[in-house]
Amino acid sequence: MGLFSKDIKKMDDLFVHTLQDIYYAENQIVKALPDMIAKATDPALKQGFQQHLGETKNHVKRLEQVFALHGVKAEGVDCPAIDGIIEEANDIVGEIDDKNVLDAALIAAAQAVEHYEMTRYGTLIGWAKQLGRSDCASILQQTLDEEKATDSKLTQLAERQVNRKAA
Ligand SMILES: [Fe+2]
Ligand SMILES: [Fe+2]
Repeated sequence: MGLFSKDIKKMDDLFVHTLQDIYYAENQIVKALPDMIAKATDPALKQGFQQHLGETKNHVKRLEQVFALHGVKAEGVDCPAIDGIIEEANDIVGEIDDKNVLDAALIAAAQAVEHYEMTRYGTLIGWAKQLGRSDCASILQQTLDEEKATDSKLTQLAERQVNRKAA
């Protein structure tokens, strides 16, 4: 199935396709986070990634609930965007020795992931409401709130790092 397959005809098809996209992405993030936890040197960053790994596993479960409510099979569809974000992060992180620089790169990569998730969930919530699926929208909203909170925490960690360096 192509990225914009002709199987997508109605809003409902687009909603399901985008659910499959973020389902794939969340599963890739579950696979990528253990490596980021291992590489992070700031204990607060390490702990933040650890906590978000738990949350991300729950995001996968929530998506499975949404698929079930909507009466479609839970399955992923390739998402080159998240693959690219993760691949780029691995490339950059692999080249850094300095601890602070490495943590800064990990924070930046993680924020790119969170923003990708935020755009997808924001869209899905709007479409779910449009399709009369407020039940799905409220489940998706719980995840969006956690993605936003994670993004804010990462911003705080980045600012703390900058302040420490400046001191
Ligand atoms: Fe997520
Ligand atoms: Fe996330």
